[in-house]
Formats: sequence, structure tokens, C-alpha cells
Amino acid sequence: PNRPLIDRYGRTISYLRISVTDRCDFRCVYCMAEDMVFLPKKDVLSFEEVETIASAFIRRGTTKIRLTGGEPLVRRDIMELVRSLGGRIGAGLEELTITTNGSQLAKHAEGLFAAGVRRINVSLDTLDEGRFRDITRRGRLPDVLAGIEAAQAAGLAIKINMVAMRGVNDDEIEPMMAWSHGRGMGLTLIEGMPLGEVGIDRVDSYLPLRELHDRLARRYTLTRLDKRTGGPARYVHVAETGGMLGFITPMSHNFCESCNRVRLTATGQLFLCLGQEDQVNLRDALRDGGLAALDAALDQAMLIKPKGHDFVLDRGSSGAPAVARHMSVTGG
Ligand code: GTP
Ligand code: 5AD
Ligand code: SF4
Repeated sequence: PNRPLIDRYGRTISYLRISVTDRCDFRCVYCMAEDMVFLPKKDVLSFEEVETIASAFIRRGTTKIRLTGGEPLVRRDIMELVRSLGGRIGAGLEELTITTNGSQLAKHAEGLFAAGVRRINVSLDTLDEGRFRDITRRGRLPDVLAGIEAAQAAGLAIKINMVAMRGVNDDEIEPMMAWSHGRGMGLTLIEGMPLGEVGIDRVDSYLPLRELHDRLARRYTLTRLDKRTGGPARYVHVAETGGMLGFITPMSHNFCESCNRVRLTATGQLFLCLGQEDQVNLRDALRDGGLAALDAALDQAMLIKPKGHDFVLDRGSSGAPAVARHMSVTGG
């Protein structure tokens, strides 16, 4: 029953991403449509169910859990779940972490640290207030900056995630790097992925990170690091700023051969790849068959986890979504 989770391609799954809600207080243009329809609350897993599923994963070798959304901190009483999962750190689980838009971070920073969280990722695409409003449609930059400050004061290490978009924020890469590194935070750049209909042209804003890397390499001394955090990013150290810069390149460079993760949605579907539909229904397994059925569903998942994703984005596809579901369903 405690067999490790190894898929058909020999990849060991040790990283579970849990989307605790598909809701969000922002509507980032590359992530959601203006008029998103969210899942009915009644379909959302209870915390007890999430804990049961997380425990099954931990028993089978999961060492890293990341809470995502939507925006995880907008789920009611979320800190209860953080505290209970935090109690598992050291007993199989090595790291509990969170990816957040930062809007509610100021009030939760200390609680996260107290629960055992040590490192968080904050999504931030710009330092310009007007542009921030344009990108997030309803976010307020000062809230996020206050959240980041509170998190640092609470002792949390922070990595900033920035979706790099041509013509939107590509003039801010260097300022963002100076700002993050100057405050002791890492910066990771992400290529926009065609997930869900969002009503913008993803072809126009697509910025291959290779291009950006080469542009930066002319001005900075970049040293490639072998260090991986168990995520898909590749990192360089920037001599001039003394900080780490990450590149997540799902579009231009596929990193699926080293995939170590699966994604639980708020309703209990386990998605086996961000860019594919393959999934198993853990909620039904658990509700209908209990723990034994849950374990069997995990075995089944390992049999159907696909080799990888193959996003295409060109004029021919007009930037149409590769998969219909939005990022907020699986939390990235
Ligand atoms: P670290 O633990 O700090 O390495 O974080 P992480 O990169 O695993 O997590 P994070 O939530 O910060 O992810 C950043 C973004 O990377 C996600 O939102 C996705 O856009 C992208 N990403 C993460 N995992 C995958 C993956 O398996 N496939 C693809 N295509 N993109 C991924
Ligand atoms: N492509 C790439 N990144 C995305 N994110 C949300 N939607 C997309 C997309 N379509 C990012 C957010 C956040 C992380 C969870 O995913 O900016 O950093
Ligand atoms: Fe919300 Fe994050 Fe999506 Fe923006 S990218 S709408 S903050 S889930």
C-alpha cells in the first residue's frame, strides 16, 4: 500500500499541487476571462477530504505539497488546512508551500510561517500601478507589495513569478530583476501558455524566453545553476544583482521528461499533466470506495500519466487554447 508512485516512463511523483479553489479576486488577462464562471461550492472538496487525499500521497512518497488556486488565500478558513498539512512536515512531507497573488498575504504571512511554510511564490507581473490594474483587471498593487513586505518580515523566503509578455511587460524584466534581487527574492519568468479561452491574443504577447535570456546575457553575467527546486524552472545566477533568475519555458522547451508532479483540482480531479486532459476522479473514488479505492485510483493515475504536453502557438492556431480548462482549475 505504501508503494512509491512511479509512472510508465519511470518518473517518480513526489510533488502534489493542490488547487484549493478555482476562485480568485483577480482576473489576470492571460489566465481568466472577465466573466469567469466558477465551480459550484457544493462540488468543492472539504478540507477533510483534501487531508485524506494528501495523506495518501504522503504515504506513497510525496515530499512536497504546494497549495494553489485560483487564489488559495481567498478560500474561507484556508489557514485551517495550512495548519493541518503543516503538521505533517517532518513526517514524510518535507515542504509545504503556496503560490499566491499576494492580495491577502499581509494578514496570513505570520500564520503561514507559524504553520511551517518557509518559502512561497508570489505572482507579480509589473511594478507599475496602472499596468497592474490592466493586467489583473481588479487587483491593487499596493496590497500585493504590502503582502510581500509582511511575508518577508514573517521570515518567508519569496520567489516572484512573472509571466513575460511581449508588448505588455517585457520592458520591465530588468527593473523587476533589480527590485526582486535587491530585496533578496528570486525572480522566475514564465512563458504564457494557451490554457482556456481568455479573450486576448496569445500569439501577439508570446515572448520566447530564449530570446530574453540572450538579451539579458549581453548585459549581465549569467551563470547557469544545476540547482532545481523540484519545479520546472531552470536557474541562472546573476553576478551583477547577486540574485537567482529562473526560466519556465513550457512553450519553447519542454521539460516533461523530468516531471515529478500531479495536480489535484478543488473538486477532486487529479490532472496528470498541465497540458493534457488525462485525469482520475479521486473524489468519487474516496466517496464510493474509501481508502482502498483511493489507492487504486492513484495506481491507475500512474498508468495514464501522459508523456508530456505539446503546446502549439502560431498564427494558424490563432493562439487558441491547447486545453479548454483555465489555469485556475489546476493552479499552474
Ligand atoms: P518551485 O517549487 O519554486 O520550483 O515552484 P514551481 O515552479 O513548481 O511552482 P509555481 O506555482 O511557482 O509554478 C510556476 C508556473 O510554472 C506555474 O504556474 C506554471 O505556469 C508553470 N508550471 C509549473 N509546473 C508545470 C508543468 O508541469 N508544466 C508546465 N507546462 N508548466 C508548469
Ligand atoms: N500561462 C502561464 N502562466 C500562467 N499563470 C496563470 N495563467 C497562465 C498562463 N496561461 C501563472 C500566474 C502564476 C502562476 C500560478 O501561473 O501568473 O504565476
Ligand atoms: Fe488569479 Fe493567479 Fe489567475 Fe491572476 S493568474 S487571475 S491572480 S489565479
